[in-house]
Amino acid sequence: MHPMMNVAVKAARKAGRMILNASENMQNVKVETKSPNNYVTNVDVDVEKAIIDILQRAFPDQYYITEESGEFGNEDSDHTWIIDPIDGTNNFIHGIPHHCVSIAMQFRGKTELAVIYNPYLDQLFTATKGSGAQLNGQRIRVANRKDFSGCLFSGALKFSKKVFEHTYPEAVLDLHKEISGLRYSGSLALDMCYVAAGYLDAVWTSRDAKIWDTAGAALMIKEAGGMLCGLDGGVTFLEDGRLIGGNPRIVAKLTKFLTPHLVPAEKA
Ligand code: IPD
Ligand code: CA
Ligand code: CA
Ligand code: CA
Repeated sequence: MHPMMNVAVKAARKAGRMILNASENMQNVKVETKSPNNYVTNVDVDVEKAIIDILQRAFPDQYYITEESGEFGNEDSDHTWIIDPIDGTNNFIHGIPHHCVSIAMQFRGKTELAVIYNPYLDQLFTATKGSGAQLNGQRIRVANRKDFSGCLFSGALKFSKKVFEHTYPEAVLDLHKEISGLRYSGSLALDMCYVAAGYLDAVWTSRDAKIWDTAGAALMIKEAGGMLCGLDGGVTFLEDGRLIGGNPRIVAKLTKFLTPHLVPAEKA
């Protein structure tokens, strides 16, 4: 286990307790609109502060990339903490108990540690680079299906015109006929953890995911024996915010399936 893991877990559990308390007192939750249909609450902000406080006490002088407080800290530090206090704020606002806390740590730009916590089910996902991924301490692995038949995927039907051609919605409907189901839970980080745990066979997103949505969850999938790539098969998926994750065979098939529907480079 990574030597910094205990502190990250402590921060995630504290955050989880705050989220559970807040969810029982929704009348006190204040919602603000960042941009149309994009919300933040006082709980996102307070939870993030609590996480930062615990991490900074243990590791002063490191760098932070956070969804709600921006980037700050020692730019020369080798360590960068990446924090999403609530992944799935929209679910939270709507009273749907499916969202999580995501904390990742990068050492010299490579993700080394990830903690993703769903407080409602007390699901603590942890991963350390080179040492596997766990759910509540038990090793997890991606599913091993080879074909689309029987697969349960997470992917959005809502599509970005700058990413996909108009052929995409029909293509996904056709894909839907071949697989057992398609989900989009509203928490990308949890969907990615569910791929790591083998509950879902693959995940894709085209919705400009941010590094705090994906850094920790990507390590979870890799450490569970899976792989990730861009929608076009490329390696810059964390930067691009568009990715496919799952076991290598299913990722290869999905990439082959999705690529023809991408906006070609000359039009993008
Ligand atoms: C969002 C969730 C959602 C994804 C959005 C993200 P947030 O994160 O991960 O599943 O579709 O693109 O912004 O804002 O709830 O932390
Ligand atoms: Ca948000
Ligand atoms: Ca998020
Ligand atoms: Ca968030």
